[in-house]
Formats: sequence, C-alpha cells, structure tokens
Amino acid sequence: MRFISKASEKEMSLLAAQMLAAVLKEKQRPVFALPTGGTPVGTYKALVKLYQEQNLDFSKGIFFNVDEYGGLGRENPQGYYYFLHEHLYQYVNVAPKHTFAPDGKAGDLEQEAAEYEAKIDSFGGLDVAFLGIGRNGHIGFNEPADFFRYASSSVTLSEDTLRANARFFNDQKAVPRHAISMGAGTIMRAKSIILIAGSDKKDVIKRLKSCKDINPQFPASVLWLHPDATIISAEK
Ligand code: PGA
Repeated sequence: MRFISKASEKEMSLLAAQMLAAVLKEKQRPVFALPTGGTPVGTYKALVKLYQEQNLDFSKGIFFNVDEYGGLGRENPQGYYYFLHEHLYQYVNVAPKHTFAPDGKAGDLEQEAAEYEAKIDSFGGLDVAFLGIGRNGHIGFNEPADFFRYASSSVTLSEDTLRANARFFNDQKAVPRHAISMGAGTIMRAKSIILIAGSDKKDVIKRLKSCKDINPQFPASVLWLHPDATIISAEK
C-alpha cells in the first residue's frame, strides 16, 4: 500500500483527479467505482475542470456508485446516485446509460445487490475503486463486522455511520439504517484502489498505517492485501 500525504485537501483532490483522469485516457472502457460524501467533492470539481479546460473525455467510462441508501430512489436529493449526478455527471460527457447505482427502492435489497454485482461483473469488474474512509475504518458501507463480504450486499449501518451522516439530513432519525454496498471483495477485485482522506481523518489513517492485522472489525485493513492501493491524505 502506498501512502501519499498532501499539504492540503485541494492538493489531495487534484492528485486523485489526475489519477482517475489517467485511467480514463489510457483504457478503452474503464470501469470505476465512485464514492459519495464530503471528501470526494473536491475531486469531482477537479475532474469537471479537466473536462472543461482539457477536454477530458468521460464518454467511454462506466461508472458505478460504491453504495446507495435503502429506501432512497434516484430522484431523492439525499440519495447517492443523485449526489454523483449533482457533483459530476451533469457537468461532463458521461453516457447516462453507463452510470449505475443500486436501486435503493427495490423491494428486496439483497436481490438488488446480487444483480448489482452481476452488472459490475458483466463489464469485467472494476478497473478503479475510488473510495473515502469512515472514522470507524469503513470502506463503502462495509462496516466493522465479523467477516468481509465477498460481493455487493444489503447492509445495516453502524451507529457511528448514522451519527457521521446525520449532517446530510435534517436529523439523525432521518438517516436510512440500511444500504446496499459493494462488498470488500468487489473492491479488492478492482485492478487499482485510490482512497482519499481529508484532514478530519488523521486518526483513522494513522491506524491504517500502523495496523498489522487484516481485521474485518477495521474494514480498511483489507487494503493491505491489494497489490495496487494508494491512500492519499491531507495534512490540513
Ligand atoms: P465523508 O465520508 O467523505 O463524508 O467523510 C467518507 C466515508 O464515510 O466513507
């Protein structure tokens, strides 16, 4: 695992955007997992700028949300498909038919998750898993647990995550308690992994750097087993 520390969140975001842009340029049909949350917003801004100023071409890319809340549909402003549309898709030349997210409103979330994994597989798996990290070490919504999930699944959010995400809702009770998330296995099968962590995540990055064991109670620890994982953090 490669750790890169940048002086500012702006520099962190720019480096992540440059790495993603390089894959977009190199590959015929690159497949990405894209995260939501506060941390990646700067990277999406930088990607939009690359599109506007350097004609970065998104038309050949395939884009999958890392996760989606249960109960929220594509049109819901608090949903994660909506987030990517708001921050990225609406500004660049992505092909809408190549943007995917689990349907949070599906009646059977487990079945929906299985179909989502099959859809990722149908494109040959992920080239790049772009990720944030939770203070509890979650990646996607792979929360601390007794095991790692091989594939996308329906998950129950931890109290830590409900608290952390309450800031995006009017009150904590409004945060959905369930979600569909790519599994740790889905992420680990990506050819490369880029994880970003702002200055608010210093503690968890320190823990990740020094952890010696791969432990599903600290989900990001699994990234130590990946041959091409880059962790980009920001000093301030
Ligand atoms: P954040 O979320 O970017 O909003 O801090 C990251 C995460 O929980 O994965």
